[in-house]
Amino acid sequence: MSAHNKITTMQERKLAIRNGGGPEKINKQHESGKLTARERIDRLVDKGSFVEVDAFVEHRSVEFGMDKRKMPADGVVTGYATIDGRPVYIYSQDFTVMGGSLGEMHAKKITKIMDMAMKTGCPIIGINDSGGARIQEGIDALSGYGEIFFRNTLASGVVPQISVILGPCAGGAVYSPALTDFVFMVDNISKMFITGPQVIEAATGEKVTADELGGSLAHNKLSGVAHFNASTEDECFNSIRKLLSFLPSNNLEDPPLYDCQDDLNRLVPELNNIIPDNANKAYDVKEVIRLVVDNGDFFEVQPLYATNIVVGFARLGGRAVGIVANQPNQLAGCLDINASDKAARFVRFCDAFNIPLITFTDVPGYLPGVEQEHGGIIRHGAKLLYAYSEATVPKINVILRKAYGGAYIAMSSKHLGADIVMAWPTAEIAVMGPEGAANIIFKKDIENSDNPIETRQQKIDEYRERFANPYVAAARGYVDDIIEPEATRPRLISALQMSESKRENRPPKKHGNLPV
Ligand code: HXC
Repeated sequence: MSAHNKITTMQERKLAIRNGGGPEKINKQHESGKLTARERIDRLVDKGSFVEVDAFVEHRSVEFGMDKRKMPADGVVTGYATIDGRPVYIYSQDFTVMGGSLGEMHAKKITKIMDMAMKTGCPIIGINDSGGARIQEGIDALSGYGEIFFRNTLASGVVPQISVILGPCAGGAVYSPALTDFVFMVDNISKMFITGPQVIEAATGEKVTADELGGSLAHNKLSGVAHFNASTEDECFNSIRKLLSFLPSNNLEDPPLYDCQDDLNRLVPELNNIIPDNANKAYDVKEVIRLVVDNGDFFEVQPLYATNIVVGFARLGGRAVGIVANQPNQLAGCLDINASDKAARFVRFCDAFNIPLITFTDVPGYLPGVEQEHGGIIRHGAKLLYAYSEATVPKINVILRKAYGGAYIAMSSKHLGADIVMAWPTAEIAVMGPEGAANIIFKKDIENSDNPIETRQQKIDEYRERFANPYVAAARGYVDDIIEPEATRPRLISALQMSESKRENRPPKKHGNLPV
């Protein structure tokens, strides 16, 4: 055969592979509202940048007539590409080929690009659309999953790992996404569960649809497994690109620096009036965040889950920062089990990837309740203490209003190593709120008084006057400065510049033991 013919043969073979499971299956994929594996990659990455590897890989299974089945690319498209000019490694399961099921060689393709991503320090993006372990391949399929989980763990904290769920993702297969940093889901298309509706009905009698059980909203709102919800695949790809714009490619790099179009010294007079005069009234902390960050652009992570705490990325003076803020208009901004988990994981991500942490504190305490106590608020709340203490990135805290008790300590206090703590004049930093404190320390005065109601109010006011302010903490140096709210943006930018060269070490150890 001539060289020319050999080239033509190669091209024909490649074309056949690119057709995946063929026109009929591709139509079915489109009819179910889904793009194909290759279309997804093309829409996500820079135009024309995708380079496929291992297109010619074939399975070597012989059981159940598998020796006669041809499976283009073995049901997964793998390779590398660029997003905004920065390299990423990517895999995309092809549901048109045997339901994207995962066998030995399919898994080997995925682990190969994971290894390459770790060696080269590039993010890994996995697009999941699969019926799970390829049943015909039995234990070899399980081994494949195990190899992926192992690498997810090794890559954790080395390169950002992003999972995109664009189809079914069932059984143990959900654990690779769960081990990664961010999970994206799309309405109606994405499903994640350990055991599906039929198994649940057989085991417990509970009737539930696949969407109610493991759809995008279920995981974005209720379980906290997912971080981003989109209504279409394209919207999801836009979010992934935006997320990556805040992240370094690996743990040895800093996040990309952008040209800042927003005035570094911009004062925000609205902030002087944002805290209501009545301490029990709420406001939206996201408004504070938007008013402070570059161009009001705040990219929220897990916006539907544990809404009493807000986490996400933004830029200050062009530098990426991770923001953690109590949300007074949800559960009064209390810390509960889910909020502690959400914030702790975010803090650890930022610390792993050199993203400074900005905290806005307005927390009345931990959420009281039997359910919280028996659900392990002690254990879960400890995660946040652990995460902030362990973090060595620049940590800057602005106390807007309440900072009471253990929750004051947990929210990036000086005592957990915050580099700069600023307070607004409206801050109330104390061991507990005036009502609770007065009830305890003035119990006898109130009981013995002729007018207990009036006395109680007097004692509350006395306590508030004496302790519910930022000056006691500032007198000890626990707060570095009390600032005009309108100056928050320039003060944060200068604190970030000042702490950019921060170097801080922790005692050498194999690893700590996060209270999971
Ligand atoms: C082999 C599979 C498969 C699998 C789907 N297919 N799942 N082949 N192993 N796990 C094949 C189907 O036979 C079919 O092949 C094609 O993929 C498309 O599947 P359909 O059923 O026609 O599609 P649809 O109606 O959309 O249903 C999709 C589905 C369903 C909901 C995912 O296929 C399904 O329930 N599959 C089994 C899911 C499951 O139980 N997985 C768990 C495996 S154990 P043809 O030839 O007709 O095109 C597991 C443990 C992992 O995952 C542990 C990891 C630690």
